[in-house]
Amino acid sequence: MMYSLWLGLGLSVMLLASFSAVSGAPNLVCFYDSQGFQRQGLAQFTMTDMELALQFCTHIIYGYAGVNADNSELQSINKRLDFEQRHLAQFTALKDRYPHIKFLLSVGGDADQNEGNQYIKLLESGQQGHRRFIESARDVVRRFNFDGLDLALQLPRNKPRKVHGDVGSAWKSFKKFFTGDYIVDEDSETHKGQLTALIKDLSSAFKANNLLLSLTVLPNVNSSWYYDAPAIEPSLDFINLGTFDFLTPQRNPEEADFSAPLYEAFGQNRLGHYNVNYQLEHWLLQRVPAHKLNIGIAAYGRAWKLSTGSGDSGMPVVAAAEGAAPAGRQSKQEGMLNWAEICQLMPNPSNANAKGADAPVRRVLDPTKRYGSYAFRAADSNGEHGLWISYDDPDSASSKASYVRSKNLGGVAFFDLTQDDFRGQCTTDRFPMLRAIKYRLL
Ligand SMILES: *[C@@H]1O[C@H](CO)[C@@H](O)[C@H](O)[C@H]1NC(C)=O
Repeated sequence: MMYSLWLGLGLSVMLLASFSAVSGAPNLVCFYDSQGFQRQGLAQFTMTDMELALQFCTHIIYGYAGVNADNSELQSINKRLDFEQRHLAQFTALKDRYPHIKFLLSVGGDADQNEGNQYIKLLESGQQGHRRFIESARDVVRRFNFDGLDLALQLPRNKPRKVHGDVGSAWKSFKKFFTGDYIVDEDSETHKGQLTALIKDLSSAFKANNLLLSLTVLPNVNSSWYYDAPAIEPSLDFINLGTFDFLTPQRNPEEADFSAPLYEAFGQNRLGHYNVNYQLEHWLLQRVPAHKLNIGIAAYGRAWKLSTGSGDSGMPVVAAAEGAAPAGRQSKQEGMLNWAEICQLMPNPSNANAKGADAPVRRVLDPTKRYGSYAFRAADSNGEHGLWISYDDPDSASSKASYVRSKNLGGVAFFDLTQDDFRGQCTTDRFPMLRAIKYRLL
C-alpha cells in the first residue's frame, strides 16, 4: 500500500516535471512558513506533507529569516527550530530527491517581529551595512545549500482605507489635502535609492556564486514608494507580488470587504489600488517583463466578526464589523482561517444542525470571477457568532491562475503550503488549493 502510494507519487512527479519542461509551463513558487512545523494537532505540517506538496512546486521558499537591527546581518529568527532541531538542513536535504526544484530562503515576510524598524535601518546602514547583510546572507544560503535568497522586506505599509470622513473638521481635511495624509515614510525616495543599490550589489555577489535572487513585495507595501522597478528588475530572477490582504480585520476593523479581489470592485469608497490587476499593471507599465512577475495567492481567508448592526445580507462592504473574528481551532490566529477551516464551515451533513460558532456559514460565489467568494453568518439576536470571511477557494484560485496564463506571467506564488487543506479534511484530495492552481498552470 505504502509502496504503491510512493510509486504513484514518484510517477506523477516525473510526469509533472517533464510536462513543464516541454510546455514551458509557468512557475508555481511555493512558500513554506516554518511556523507550520511547530503548530499543534491538525495544523501541524510535517516533512511528509512537504514531500507530497513538492510535486506541484517549481520553487520552494523557506520562511523566514530576519535581519539583526544592530549589525544589519541576516539572522535566524528561530534558532531552536532552524539550527538546534536542524530544520533548515532537513529542508534543503530534500534537494537530493527533488533536483528540479529551486530551494530559496526568504528574509522578512512579516515574520521577523523582534524589532520593528530593522529593514529601514538596513537600508540606511550605508555601504558597510549593506556589505554585512550581503555577506551574511550569502554565507547562510551557501552553508545550508540553498539555491538563492528571497527578499520579503518589511517596509512601512500603506495606510488603510478610511471608513469615516472627516465630518465637522474642515481644517483637518484641508491640512490633510496639502500634507498628504497617506504618506507613511517621508524619506521613501531616499529609501528607494538605497534599496536599489542594495539589490544591485546583492545580485552581483549572488550571480558570482550562481545563486538566485528574488523579491517578494509584501501586502500593502506600496511599490510606487519603495521599488524602482526598471532599475532593480535586471538584478532579480523573479518578483512575487503579495496581492492579497488588501483589507484585513486588523487594518479595517469596522468594515468587512474583499481581501484579495482580482479587479477593482467599484463604489463604496473603495481604493483603486487594492486589487491584483492594479498591482500587476503597476509593474508591467514600467516594462518589467511579464515572465518575471508572479501573482500571490493566499491559502487562507480573512475573517471579521459581525455585529447586529452589520445586518444579515452579508453584501460587502459590510458595515459595523467588530474587528477580527475569533481564531480558528487549528490555525489559532485571530482574524484569519486557513482553507481547511473555511471549507469545514461550509454547509455539510455534519454541521447541518450545529449552533453558535459551529453553525454553517452561507457561501456566496462570484459568477463574474472578478472579486472572489465570501461566506458569512449573520450575528444572532444576542449579537454573537457573526462572521464574514473573504477567501480564495480552489475555483477562484484557479481563475487567478488563468489570469496568470492569459497575461503570460511568470506564474503564481502560493502563501503558503501550511495553510492549505494539506490533510484532506474536506475533500479526498490533499492540497486542493495548490492542485487547482497547478492544473490550471499546466
Ligand atoms: C501607492 O499609494 C498611493 C497613494 O495612496 C496610490 O495612489 C498608489 O496607487 C499606490 N501604489 C501602488 C502600486 O499601490
